[in-house]
Amino acid sequence: MVIPLPTHRRVIRRTDDFTPGTHKTKLVSEPLPTTLSPTSVLVKVHAVALNYRDANIANGGNPWPVVPNGILGNDAAGEVIAVGDKVSTLAIGDRAAPITDTENISNREPSRSWLAADEDGVMADYLVFDERVLCKLPRYLSWEEAAIVPCAGVTAWSALKGMQIAQTVLIQGTGGVSVFALKLARAAGLRIILTSSSDAKLQQMKDQLGSPPISTVNYAKTPDWDQEVLRLTNGVGVDIVVENGGTSSLVKSLMCTRRGGVVSQVGYLAKQDPSDLRELIPTIIDRSVTLRGINAGSKYDMEDFCAALEATQTPLGDLIDRVFTFEQAEEAVDYVWQGKQIGKIVLRV
Ligand SMILES: NC(=O)c1ccc[n+]([C@@H]2O[C@H](COP(=O)([O-])OP(=O)(O)OC[C@H]3O[C@@H](n4cnc5c(N)ncnc54)[C@H](OP(=O)(O)O)[C@@H]3O)[C@@H](O)[C@H]2O)c1
Repeated sequence: MVIPLPTHRRVIRRTDDFTPGTHKTKLVSEPLPTTLSPTSVLVKVHAVALNYRDANIANGGNPWPVVPNGILGNDAAGEVIAVGDKVSTLAIGDRAAPITDTENISNREPSRSWLAADEDGVMADYLVFDERVLCKLPRYLSWEEAAIVPCAGVTAWSALKGMQIAQTVLIQGTGGVSVFALKLARAAGLRIILTSSSDAKLQQMKDQLGSPPISTVNYAKTPDWDQEVLRLTNGVGVDIVVENGGTSSLVKSLMCTRRGGVVSQVGYLAKQDPSDLRELIPTIIDRSVTLRGINAGSKYDMEDFCAALEATQTPLGDLIDRVFTFEQAEEAVDYVWQGKQIGKIVLRV
């Protein structure tokens, strides 16, 4: 029996009205192409995960340009339901997701095209992408778990790349990338120092992770949190930082990294002010630290990460804070904007 393909899809587009109190998203129905080009793939989406950037873009705060009224989202998981006649890497029934930067296949491409910014994102019930930018997802994960892999997961994977057992990692905040990094750090046998603005969130993470205990610092109550991290590491500093604040925290992060360590610059959560970086160069030189920019990862990085997940069958369900319906996208975006979550927020489609 031939199942007729959908003619339309439902998508969540930004309103681009940044006035406080107004709707930031709208649910609309749009036609799908009537035929697939030879290398295109039609994916039925089962879950979409939110990231801080979705809330930031919806509220007009993204530091990079975005297409007007674009579709939100760059973390999704779906099932291939139709393929063009030249598609060779995917088949009907495969689980797949697009990579976050669709120009970044091997880390050698000079250009960038981020989903939900330079092009439409993935907050939709059907997606059409070229097979070149789609990656197969692990089969053992639920749809909700699989949806957190392409952006948050690959970012955490890239941020921790090169670490070795028994090294110490400083992870900032309890958001999506951070709890994913926590999970991977634990699996890799790293010592963890976690920061948060909330004692309750730190306690919850301590309870969740059990033994061996993690060290914690409340960065809101402890303005000199870098000194506290140094104290916790006998004055040596950590081997690696998953740096989420940006300009306001970067120099402090470098100050509490050991000589020769790595700071993975992932986020820009605080107000970005270049004047906070006056001590950047002397500190990098003094501490001989490698400052590594993280841009999610390439398609090859995502394939490596998915292979690692599949091999270890690492469960990811405990990284999900809350699941909303597709129709509750506006509420979910606001939840992330207010920073209520510990971990990931997912829309079930
Ligand atoms: N470079 C990349 O490839 C890439 C990929 C994904 C995300 N990102 C960026 O990484 C950052 C985190 O993203 P996400 O999706 O994980 O965010 P998220 O889930 O919204 O997490 C935000 C959490 O970070 C903590 N936080 C807020 N301000 C902070 C600060 N100044 N310093 C340290 N922690 C702070 C808060 O945790 P507490 O309540 O516990 O304090 C907050 O709940 C964002 O800036 C995002 O744009 C970058």
